Amino acid sequence: MSGRGTAYGIGVGPGDPELLTLKGLRLLRAAPVVAYPAPLGGESFARSIVAAQLRPGQQEIAIEVPMDTALHPAQDVYDRAAARIADALDAGSDVAILCQGDPFFYGSFMYLFERLAGRHRVEIVPGVSSLGACAAAAGLPLAHRNEALSVIPAPLDEAVLATRIAAAPLAAIIKLGRHFEKTRRVLDRLGRSRSAIYVERASLPTQRVLPLAEVSAESVPYFAMVLAPDGERR
Ligand SMILES: C[S@@+](CC[C@H](N)C(=O)[O-])C[C@H]1O[C@@H](n2cnc3c(N)ncnc32)[C@H](O)[C@@H]1O
Repeated sequence: MSGRGTAYGIGVGPGDPELLTLKGLRLLRAAPVVAYPAPLGGESFARSIVAAQLRPGQQEIAIEVPMDTALHPAQDVYDRAAARIADALDAGSDVAILCQGDPFFYGSFMYLFERLAGRHRVEIVPGVSSLGACAAAAGLPLAHRNEALSVIPAPLDEAVLATRIAAAPLAAIIKLGRHFEKTRRVLDRLGRSRSAIYVERASLPTQRVLPLAEVSAESVPYFAMVLAPDGERR
């Protein structure tokens, strides 16, 4: 284990700044270095959630990830970011790495984790995930008793998406954006659209919760999810 600092992967929650944990807040404020993902040339969502908590003098490392590499993350971007974080750790500084939602729930933080863990001390601070935030916004309990719950990424091939949704008593379909129309088509075919709830930007002031049929496809952002219960759950 090289270096004297610790990297903290801090889940900053789904968007509402009040959904940051007390532990995340303490470690964020104590860290001399703060790193976060950001779209190339754009604002970091994770940073915006905790912006009011940052201290003057904290060194910031923006990890600029080109959006068009969402499916095939830019390995060299994460290589370079991990190297900068490792330098800070070797110099004895703790580094707070901000992750929207929870770090280990589909978080891009995992690309840094696989580069740093084993060589440096890395601790994970779980966060409130978008799954819990969307269920809360929709007023839809996620799972009862022995029910299974499936989280299904919308970019999957249409046939695979249909098979996975058909098998799930409650499907939480994430990463919608331009995959929304395909997702709605699949839910229509499976007879699941009438009970499906669309949640956009859960926990933010701009949050929207709508029946699936009322959503206009052109307006669907990346930070949106569909919760689709099967007939048993209606
Ligand atoms: C790469 S995953 C990251 C999930 C994040 N680590 C978490 O714990 O929620 C991004 C997907 O999570 C969902 N998501 C994240 N935040 C959301 C929010 N506030 N409202 C609705 N969906 C959200 C969307 O489906 C989005 O495409």
